[in-house]
Amino acid sequence: MKSLLALGAVVLTTAALAWAGADAQPKAGGAPKPVITKAAKGEHCVEDTAYMRRNHMKLLNVHRDRTVLQGVRTKKHSLKACIDCHASEATGSVASAKEDFCVSCHSYAAVKIDCFDCHSTKPQSAAATTLPHAHPASAAAHVEELAGVSQ
Ligand code: HEC
Ligand code: HEC
Ligand code: HEC
Repeated sequence: MKSLLALGAVVLTTAALAWAGADAQPKAGGAPKPVITKAAKGEHCVEDTAYMRRNHMKLLNVHRDRTVLQGVRTKKHSLKACIDCHASEATGSVASAKEDFCVSCHSYAAVKIDCFDCHSTKPQSAAATTLPHAHPASAAAHVEELAGVSQ
């Protein structure tokens, strides 16, 4: 229990510091700040943290289109890579508990994403099962391209 509390304090402090640096706050003063779980892996994000805070959705969209429409597979901005680093140590997921990385900010900012209807919220082993359907925002997901994502 003690160590849980200590962990909570560390996470809170980190989040407060991280959020203090954000200049694109979705809500005006007085509202509680989101608790942003620190990345479990990696010294740095795939881009500058401040840039990521504001532009991660654009990177994900571009990467999705490159993968699904153009069949170009790179790791750098892949959703799987985000999850590998950002899954919480407590739940092993980016979006199971309200403290989990992708949920913490989004619930604060009232953002809803459907990504995890299809994409796993947890780091995947090599043997992932196949998704049943194509990407919603794109017409041409090749069958082979479905192999990497699991429910
Ligand atoms: C190599 C590990 C790694 C990968 C891969 C990675 N990140 Fe990060 N990310 C980090 C680290 C480290 C930080 C700095 C803050 C921290 O320590 O949690 C960070 C910060 C962020 C932040 C800002 C959080 C804040 O405190 O304001 C966002 C948003 C973010 N990442 C989203 C993503 C997304 C989306 C992806 C996939 C496109 C991704 N990250 C991939 C390690 C990673
Ligand atoms: C209806 C199911 C579905 C939904 C909802 C969905 N995706 Fe996908 N996504 C797929 C499929 C299928 C692929 C292709 C499989 C692959 O590339 O591994 C894919 C591939 C991707 C890729 C490229 C592969 C990777 O791991 O980086 C990204 C990025 C991506 N999706 C992001 C998103 C984001 C962000 C959202 C939410 C805004 C989202 N997806 C919602 C089904 C879905
Ligand atoms: C530092 C806080 C923060 C974190 C952490 C974060 N997001 Fe976001 N995200 C936001 C905000 C704020 C928006 C809305 C931005 C806007 O509307 O311009 C957003 C929007 C999005 C969108 C676009 C939603 C839409 O309908 O336009 C996607 C997709 C997304 N985030 C994916 C992710 C994923 C996946 C993760 C975890 C890997 C994540 N985010 C982590 C703050 C965050």
